[in-house]
Amino acid sequence: MKRHSIPAFSLSRQIEQHKTALLGALEQVLDKQAFVGGAFVQAFEQQLAAYLGSEFVIGCNSGTDALWMALHALRVPKNGIVLTTPFSFIASSSEIATFGAHPVFIDIEQDTFNISPQLLAAWLEKNAYCEGKTAIHKATGFPIVGIIPVDLFGQCADYRILQEIAETWNLWIIEDTAQAIGATFGEKKAGTLGTIGAFSFYPTKNLGAFGDAGACVTNDPILAERLLQVRQHGRKATGYDYEAFGINSRLDAMQAVVLSQRLPLLEGFNDRRRAIAQIYSSMLDGILGLQLPREIAGHHVFHQYTVLVDDSKGVSLRNELEKYLAGIGIQARIFYPQSLQQISFLNTNAMLATACPVATKVAASCLSLPMWPEMTDEEVLAVCDAVRQFFVQPAAAQQVELS
Ligand SMILES: Cc1ncc(COP(=O)(O)O)c(C=O)c1O
Repeated sequence: MKRHSIPAFSLSRQIEQHKTALLGALEQVLDKQAFVGGAFVQAFEQQLAAYLGSEFVIGCNSGTDALWMALHALRVPKNGIVLTTPFSFIASSSEIATFGAHPVFIDIEQDTFNISPQLLAAWLEKNAYCEGKTAIHKATGFPIVGIIPVDLFGQCADYRILQEIAETWNLWIIEDTAQAIGATFGEKKAGTLGTIGAFSFYPTKNLGAFGDAGACVTNDPILAERLLQVRQHGRKATGYDYEAFGINSRLDAMQAVVLSQRLPLLEGFNDRRRAIAQIYSSMLDGILGLQLPREIAGHHVFHQYTVLVDDSKGVSLRNELEKYLAGIGIQARIFYPQSLQQISFLNTNAMLATACPVATKVAASCLSLPMWPEMTDEEVLAVCDAVRQFFVQPAAAQQVELS
């Protein structure tokens, strides 16, 4: 089989294409020497608010900080229970635990990789009761306070049902939409479907900065005030007028201008991701044992194109396919090799442990194929050929691995 050089993700062509505009944006910051906060950060926050159709955008240092700040603004109590997905980057759960609260893992849907609203409703019916407006966990007596769904790989979770559940049980929703900027669910943009939306602009995200960056999004003025306050040492403005406990999680002006320059390009990047996904889906359709991603909930922006790789008996061939592709110069990545309920320190209370068989199985057989907007059709087709070859001629695949 022909050798290739196709990374799982690359920014080199994109940066080359937009270098002059990006350097111009960075130069503005140098000229004004407005490195921290100020007009460039505010301009990006306003631009993002207009794009999302949201009242308030509060920039911060990372997606992890956005989750932490959202939990802080919602006053998550010690021993509070937050229902969340086990199939995600660790931050969507670990930030819950930093407050002494408990992530409770509800299994996912195999075809969207997102939290199952049906299993979430069933867990609440079985394990909770309402005392006044508060949902209480029967076995521990802990309050159940909120839900953190993740819009994994660029597709929104099912907010129609999640919002109904949240209303019935009086729970807030923090939408972790680190991977889905530009996706929509119904008429609304990802990030605006919960009480607070948490974004990451890590460089590999669909809208990436050139370092760490993130944002919280909300329509609630009280929460917006709290978020503004907590991101800079408990004060709403500069000066030494502290009103509450806070941290330093400001959005850097250098990152803000990069994001401002790239936000108008996002729809184009996402359209190209969708076109690549369409080529993958049509060329890889019909391979026994290969589950392709499906667009079920709204407009998917394919942060990742993630397949499940099994043989005809359901035994995972994921590691073999990954090695085979690597052997011919195609880099595929495993997001994620373990389901979060398998991480011991995230199991904060034995009485709250759940089994998540679907997430566990998905973690054992998922593989994300190369996905970045500047991939050429030829490169996408080369990946398809290689994957087909692996399934058609397993013996040939083995030879490459050994050589
Ligand atoms: C689903 C999800 N949540 C949260 C984060 C954390 O974002 P950051 O890396 O900007 O802290 C990420 C980033 O990888 C993510 O993918």
